[in-house]
Amino acid sequence: MTRFLIAKQLPTKSNELLIAPLSNLDLKPKRGAGQSVLHSLDSISAGALGRLIKQRGFKPKAGESLTADLGQKGLPGRIVLLGWKEKGESEFERVEEYRKLGSSLFSQAQRTKASTVVLVASDLDLSKEENLSALIEGVELTGYRFNKYKSTKEPGFAVKQVTIVTSAKVSRDGIARGTVLAVATSLARDLINTPPIDCTPSFLVKHAREVARRGKLKIQVWDRKALARMGAGGLIGVSMGSAEGAYLVKLTYRPKKSTKRVVSLVGKGVTFDSGGLSIKTGDGMMTMKCDMSGAAAVIAAMSAIAQLKPDCEVRGYIPTCENMIGPSALRPGDVIRMLNKKTVEVLNTDAEGRLILADALSMASKDGCDEVIDIATLTGACVTALGSDYAGILGNSSRIVRDIIKAGEVSGEPFWELPLVKGYASQIKSPVADLKNIGSRSKGGGTILGALFLKEFIGETPVWAHLDIAGPAFVDGANGYITAGGVGFGVRTLVRYLLRGKE
Ligand code: BES
Ligand code: MN
Ligand code: ZN
Repeated sequence: MTRFLIAKQLPTKSNELLIAPLSNLDLKPKRGAGQSVLHSLDSISAGALGRLIKQRGFKPKAGESLTADLGQKGLPGRIVLLGWKEKGESEFERVEEYRKLGSSLFSQAQRTKASTVVLVASDLDLSKEENLSALIEGVELTGYRFNKYKSTKEPGFAVKQVTIVTSAKVSRDGIARGTVLAVATSLARDLINTPPIDCTPSFLVKHAREVARRGKLKIQVWDRKALARMGAGGLIGVSMGSAEGAYLVKLTYRPKKSTKRVVSLVGKGVTFDSGGLSIKTGDGMMTMKCDMSGAAAVIAAMSAIAQLKPDCEVRGYIPTCENMIGPSALRPGDVIRMLNKKTVEVLNTDAEGRLILADALSMASKDGCDEVIDIATLTGACVTALGSDYAGILGNSSRIVRDIIKAGEVSGEPFWELPLVKGYASQIKSPVADLKNIGSRSKGGGTILGALFLKEFIGETPVWAHLDIAGPAFVDGANGYITAGGVGFGVRTLVRYLLRGKE
């Protein structure tokens, strides 16, 4: 974990790396803090920096950089000037620039093996908490490695410390928030990247307990026996082909000041999705260890919430099991009775996520809450519709959908709304049970049907949003600042959504 400090003056040790994002090249002395840093660097180096800038033709344009090894007394060993323009047409793009900057800070430090970095922030706007957080996230996300299973570990590189030099007000709370969000994202990534032979349902339970212990959260766990007694037919049904257990975990955060507002989070925790008897192809299964990304996001979000303390009550529900094949696996055509007593004809055992989420949503609604948000790698159709960068969002309130999209924009996690088409609901009516778990294939709209199915289980909860993260949950190769594997998508959006109004 990188430590971030704030300084008003340039600290200069010869083993440090100085990074200066610049939007202009004014070398003349100026009043105010604005451009004075470049001027003072130039004068300490007796004009050498200015000459180098001229000679190399460096322009302060995005994507340009200049590395100077001036070896002057009173200057850091190496100076990297980066072209910097705060640009972008949307809020998402503008904040994203700071995440990218954090990412190039890490890469530059790694390239030059500098474990302490000085960041000249005079041309940055770090008084905005979301920019500061994005910068911190960018450093942390780029430095993330998962090498627990490598017998020869890559020599690890870490940026130990970044000193932000600025005369502007940078909030220490902002640094704390960015750090907590970045660490929580890494926790979710670790859980997702852990292979399914180890990341079992009981492994997720163990980690939820650890989060509860450290964050002083209340935790309740129902195992297979308790679930069967309760009548949680969705979770029991999906887990029947598996030698592993099935669990429903509930984490509760209560704010100090009593509050009326209660928000519930529900995360899909299928630790491996083979498809069950409606088996997937070899290729289709290859990344299905990521099918617990929703659960990982909720566990990690709860760990951040315990530290950042929003003023509403937050409950995290994690239904978790495997979707496997065995002598007692669910068969297509089976009818199961869910926790809320509705019956479901399971026509495709690969549409399992909605079955376990249904029971968790029923419990959340029975417990009573103002809002419920579920997050799940639910449908391949969502990947077809939106690709691998965007998550789908559907809900019964335009207010919550709008606020989650907004929280996602500053978090670097884009969401796109799909319509909850009422008329499609007839497609999930079954001739033999109350519902069936798939629509008629030829009609498409798989993501919408998944959401309509879940909506049947929110009971009296007035406000509900469904986040389908099947696309962005996992990346095969590195994607910008996101290294390959689990992304931890949704952690920061959920936490920011819950923190809104608390600045
Ligand atoms: N876990 C999958 C969805 C998925 C696909 C996640 C690709 C990540 C990447 C889910 O359980 C599933 O198999 N959904 C089916 C639903 C269908 C049978 C109605 C799908 O998308 O094919
Ligand atoms: Mn499936
Ligand atoms: Zn699945």
